[in-house]
Amino acid sequence: MSLKYLEIKERIKNFDKKITVDGDKSISIRWALIASQAIGKSSAKNLLRSEDVLNALECLKSLGVKIKLKKNLCEIFGRGINGFNFKKNIIIDAGNSGTLGRLIIPLLIKSPYKIKIKGDKSLSKRDFSRVIEPLKKIGANFYPQNTKKLPFFIKGSDYLRPINYYEKKGSAQCKSAIMLASLLTPGETKIVAKKSRDHTEIMFKNINVPMKIIKKNNLDFISIQKPNIIKKIDINIPGDISSSAFFLVLTLLQKNSKLIIKNVNINPSRQGVIKILNKMGADIKLLNIKINNNEKCADIFVKSKKNLKKINCSPKLNSSAIDEFLIIFLVAAKAKGVSKFKNLSELNQKESPRLKLAAKILKMIGVKVKSDNESIKIYGNPNLKINKNIRIKNYMKDHRVFMMSVIAALSLGGKWKIYDKDSVNTSFPSFLKIVRNLGAKLN
Ligand code: S3P
Repeated sequence: MSLKYLEIKERIKNFDKKITVDGDKSISIRWALIASQAIGKSSAKNLLRSEDVLNALECLKSLGVKIKLKKNLCEIFGRGINGFNFKKNIIIDAGNSGTLGRLIIPLLIKSPYKIKIKGDKSLSKRDFSRVIEPLKKIGANFYPQNTKKLPFFIKGSDYLRPINYYEKKGSAQCKSAIMLASLLTPGETKIVAKKSRDHTEIMFKNINVPMKIIKKNNLDFISIQKPNIIKKIDINIPGDISSSAFFLVLTLLQKNSKLIIKNVNINPSRQGVIKILNKMGADIKLLNIKINNNEKCADIFVKSKKNLKKINCSPKLNSSAIDEFLIIFLVAAKAKGVSKFKNLSELNQKESPRLKLAAKILKMIGVKVKSDNESIKIYGNPNLKINKNIRIKNYMKDHRVFMMSVIAALSLGGKWKIYDKDSVNTSFPSFLKIVRNLGAKLN
C-alpha cells in the first residue's frame, strides 16, 4: 500500500549540483489555450506535464480540439478563433487550476450551448466573480445568474461588445481573461491593469494580435483590436521560476552548497523572488541570459548564505512574487530581525488560504509570527532548528504548502509527516525526484 504522506527524518547534506525544473505552468496553460484559437498546428517543446496542464488539454479535447502528445512535444491543431466543435451538455473540469478555470471561460463567450464549468474542492472555494462580472459586461451569460463560485454554467452570445476594464488587483489571471475574450469580441477591448505577469501580452505579440501597450504610472494601458485570424505558435517552454524558488531557498538555508538551475524563465514580471531574496542577503545570479519567444531565460546560480537579514517587503513586489511567498517566509524565519510583508490578502485566495496556513506552520515550527488577513510579521531566528515531530495535514492539498514543508524539513530538521504528497503533481511532478537527486533521504 502506498502511503499518502511523505516522511522526512533527516536534514539534507551539502550539495553542489546542476538541475533543471519542469516547464513554466503559466506559459504552458496560455500556450495550449491560445494555440486552440490559432489556425494550423502549433507545437510546444518541454510543455509542463502536470495535472493543471493535462487538464487544460483535456478541456480543449472536450471542446473538439485535436491534440497530440509526443515524447517531448505537444501539438495542438487549432481551427481558428472560436473554432471549437462540441455537442450539447459538455462539462469542462478545471481541476485544481485557477489559471485554467479563469482563462478558459473567456474562450466560451460565444458558445451556442450552456457549458458546465467545474473544479475540485479547492477551486470551488475560489472567487470567480472577478472574471464573471467583466465577461457579463461583454455579453456572456452565467447560470445561476448571481454565481460567484464553481460549479456554474456559461452560455455565450452573438452580440458581444468590447469593454473598458480596470484590473485593480495586480492579477494576471483577470487581465489575461479579458485579453483572451478580446480575441472573440468585435472592436477594441481596453484594459488598464496594475502590473502583473505579462506572458499573455508576450504571446499575443508573438502571433501579431493587433495590440498596443502604454506603460504609465505603474499601470499598463492595453488596447486590443479583435484579430480575424491568429497564426500558429511554436514554442520552447523554459523552466518555471516558481518551481525553482523551492530549490533557491533549500540551497540558501544549507551550509556550503551551490546550485545552478538551468534554463529558467526570468520574465521581469516574475523576478520578485530573486529581488526579495537578494535584498535579504542572498547572492543569486543570472547566467547565460537569453531571449526565447520574447521571454527572458537564464541559468540561476545560488549558494548557501549564513547571514540572511530581515526585509520590509515593498508591496510593489507582491505581484511579481505572488506564488513564492510561502517559501520566502521560510527564509524570513531563519533571517536576523523581524520581516514584514503587507497587502497580501490575495494570498488567502489561492489554492489554500496561504497567508493563514503559513502563519500556522511557522508557529508550529517555533517561529514567532504576528499576522492578520493581509499582512504578516515574522520574527526571524538565525539559529532556528526543529527537534520535534511535525505533521502537515489538512491544507487543501495545496502543492506549494507541500513543497514549502519539504524544504522546511530538509533545512531545519525535526521529524516530519507531510500528507497529500500527490499534491505536487498539479504543478511540479519532478519535485521529489529532484529533491532525491540532491541527496535528500525521503521515506
Ligand atoms: C497566474 C497568476 C497568479 C498566480 C497563479 C498563476 C497566471 O494568479 O498566483 O499561480 O498564470 O496568470 P492571480 O492572477 O490570481 O494573482
